[in-house]
Amino acid sequence: MKKAWWKEAVVYQIYPISFKDSNGDGYGDLRGIIEKLDYLKELGIDVVWLNPVYKSPNDDNGYDISDYRDIMDEFGTMKDWEELLKEMHNRGIKLIMDLVVNHSSDEHKWFVESRKSKDNPFRDYYIWRDGKDGKEPNNWKSHFEGSAWELDEQTGEYYMHLFSKKQPDLNWENEKVREEVFDIVKFWLDKGIDGFRMDVINMISKVDGLPSVETEQQGYVDGGEYFRNGPRVHEYLREMNEKVLSKYDIMTVGETPGVNPSEGLKYVGDDRYELNMIFQFEHVDVDVGPEGPAVIKDWKLTDFKKIMDKWQLELQGKGWNSLYLNNHDQPRMVSRFGDDGKYRVESAKMLGTLLHTLQGTPYIYQGEEIGMTNVHFPTIEDYKDISTVNSYHVAVAAGFPVQMIMPIVHYRSRDNARTPMQWNKTNNAGFSTATPWIKVNPNYMEINVEEALKNKNSIFYYYKKLIENRKNHPVIVYGNYKPLLEDDERIYSYLRTGEGEELLIVLNFYSKKATPNLPADISEKFQDILITNYDNDIIPKPNDELNPYEARVYIRKI
Ligand code: GLC
Ligand code: CA
Repeated sequence: MKKAWWKEAVVYQIYPISFKDSNGDGYGDLRGIIEKLDYLKELGIDVVWLNPVYKSPNDDNGYDISDYRDIMDEFGTMKDWEELLKEMHNRGIKLIMDLVVNHSSDEHKWFVESRKSKDNPFRDYYIWRDGKDGKEPNNWKSHFEGSAWELDEQTGEYYMHLFSKKQPDLNWENEKVREEVFDIVKFWLDKGIDGFRMDVINMISKVDGLPSVETEQQGYVDGGEYFRNGPRVHEYLREMNEKVLSKYDIMTVGETPGVNPSEGLKYVGDDRYELNMIFQFEHVDVDVGPEGPAVIKDWKLTDFKKIMDKWQLELQGKGWNSLYLNNHDQPRMVSRFGDDGKYRVESAKMLGTLLHTLQGTPYIYQGEEIGMTNVHFPTIEDYKDISTVNSYHVAVAAGFPVQMIMPIVHYRSRDNARTPMQWNKTNNAGFSTATPWIKVNPNYMEINVEEALKNKNSIFYYYKKLIENRKNHPVIVYGNYKPLLEDDERIYSYLRTGEGEELLIVLNFYSKKATPNLPADISEKFQDILITNYDNDIIPKPNDELNPYEARVYIRKI
């Protein structure tokens, strides 16, 4: 397998508005991040992925950008940003930025011009169409509810917005738009950053004619078949790669909802010259059924393992995986895949073990390393996320009682991940001296960084060890992956086989004890443990009973 620094790296994701407020206005900021770089160094991560910090009216927390070459006032100045990059590089930490170019803000100067008249030079930077029979040009639904089209009074035409109406989609068919994007990419790379995470990058090419989805259903429906993995997306990405990305030693990760491994390989295949890796969604959609996110689907461990195994095996030797169980758009992983009550610490460590022993680059989302959990705000007024708030109101309008809606909000809201980072036991969890933009999770007295750093058995130190292991055992990065016990509903187990070393991973995904039934010719070979989340007096054998959420990584020389 080809070696690369970004395969060996561990990435830490910072959602800046909720990380650390340095100047007491209730918003996290760049200087706040600088204050905490030594903390990240202590954890041992190699790369920071910073969510958008560009100028933005903040309709969707920075994913609506009004100036791609400037910093949002709340976050600081370009000087602060330059200092942040310097301080990171001084500590050997790399920085990747978020590239949000499927859409801009409606307050971007391109759109301000574009909407002025049909013959404005910027008109074709966006996707404008006439209405059909007094209605929108097609029946596509916006990701944030309602139509994906907005009628603009000024010229009487509609513009497309796959997200909020303050996020008009850029028209990638227009060569000038592509050149503008490539210039922006170059601007930041020349400032010395180490790569990009590319927002919904598989949506930039739409099918010609923008057809309506054929359906019996009334109203707006998901038009993904016409804009996900569209006809020219690979052409555009190759063009970006050839003209800009390939000239720098960087990493790229594309966010690609609705992609399976064979589609995925088209983005990340070694022979494709597009991206280094993607964030696929199949495993985090394991609890989403055909009715959509409004219903919480029961899932089995075998469903989850099937998805993970498929990605591990189909990309093996051909492309590279990214490994994540949560981020700023997903609920907290310990609440969703583990147990945020009695076994919070054990299950957080078990899930971390999975992420840090599969093949791929692990991403840690801020607070994951101390086992932060979902939040249960009592009323919708406490929620800030445009997606949560819009869906709530749609559900209310459809006649669903609030008592039915709130449990879904509690389970799924993106705000679960967006509450302020819990640093210590002081006011507002040490995040800010002012009232934070969103409420702090009340469990900060128990779950916070200061406590974690005092306790040698904390999730933090376990993560630190997982990261160290990656540096000391190349088998974790480059080893071959082979699933075991595929039909087991409680235990996730696999082998990683590298040059000179082999690992056997055994993970109990449940709050009850479970006994592995590994074939003797495998189990007998392993005696030594590299890492485990339980303090066993005698080293257990691979087939010995596992405690609730127990994780064991065995190691042997080969
Ligand atoms: C991505 C981002 C999400 C944002 C959306 C629109 O999914 O991760 O936070 O709302 O794109 O930019
Ligand atoms: Ca601030």
